[in-house]
Amino acid sequence: MIAQPDTATASRKSTRQLPFTSVAGRMLLVLTNGPADQSFLGNPLLPILIRRMPEAHRRRFVLRLLSISPHYFTEIGSDRYPPPMPMRDVLELELARNVLSRRQLADEVIAPFLNPGSRVLDFGSGIGILASHMADRCAQVTGVDISCGAIACGRVLFPKPNLGFVAVARGQLVGVADQCMDLVTAIAVMQHMDDVALASTLQEIHRVLVPGGMALCHVPLAESLVATPKATQHQDRRNPVTRLLQRRYGLLMLYRDRAQIEAMFQNAGFVIESSGSIGERAEIEDDIAHQHLFVLKRA
Ligand SMILES: C[S@@+](CC[C@H](N)C(=O)[O-])C[C@H]1O[C@@H](n2cnc3c(N)ncnc32)[C@H](O)[C@@H]1O
Repeated sequence: MIAQPDTATASRKSTRQLPFTSVAGRMLLVLTNGPADQSFLGNPLLPILIRRMPEAHRRRFVLRLLSISPHYFTEIGSDRYPPPMPMRDVLELELARNVLSRRQLADEVIAPFLNPGSRVLDFGSGIGILASHMADRCAQVTGVDISCGAIACGRVLFPKPNLGFVAVARGQLVGVADQCMDLVTAIAVMQHMDDVALASTLQEIHRVLVPGGMALCHVPLAESLVATPKATQHQDRRNPVTRLLQRRYGLLMLYRDRAQIEAMFQNAGFVIESSGSIGERAEIEDDIAHQHLFVLKRA
């Protein structure tokens, strides 16, 4: 079932890019970006800055930082938070909104794939909200992300003894041994990766899974775009300079069709066990409810 966009959601989304349209906002994006495309908050100085920040200010600083990434606090500037509301409250409410949707995902969709002994890798974990919920249900979770700044924020917000983080380096899951994971999750990340990056990542996911291990991959299919208002299509940008800037400083959004993504999963050696709308599995207050989850098994 494909959900139709509702006008309330559409109007909220129309302001989601607000922090990046001002000159100052764009400069911040450039300064906080890391060396790789799409590594928002990937500047290697950010983890050092966060570690040196006095503890009393650390959480607030981290939430402020997250507000300039296009990935997390996407409702700032929307009518969800009327203007007199102090930014400190808006940031905490945005974090709570993200925490709720990932808790629903962990409890209602991912829990059946977990057991107390599971070792899990969460690819594109960002600040580790989902990873932290999964860590409450299994032995060990490793969050992996391209952004060392996002990881540093996650270490502040979700410290847990069985939750670790690793930064992706040149597309490799460095330090993650072959066949050491029972489950890999990849939520809200594959649409931000071009075909080359995604193909090599799928090979890496295959490498780290035990034989028979499972991967749960969220994919916003091109066929379901009607359910994702305001989607920007990277391919629409014809000018090569604009394309370069978009890759580096804009959020890459690639919507693949079912045949394309299934071929990529199979080429990496996965068997597709099932696929369906996340909203059919659970009620989740997030865009991902209108999009698809592929359940893959390592052959
Ligand atoms: C929208 S956030 C999703 C975070 C988390 N999976 C969730 O659902 O809450 C997307 C994350 O993917 C990460 N990302 C984007 N491209 C990546 C890549 N090539 N390798 C690893 N992580 C990537 C971003 O840094 C960001 O933290």
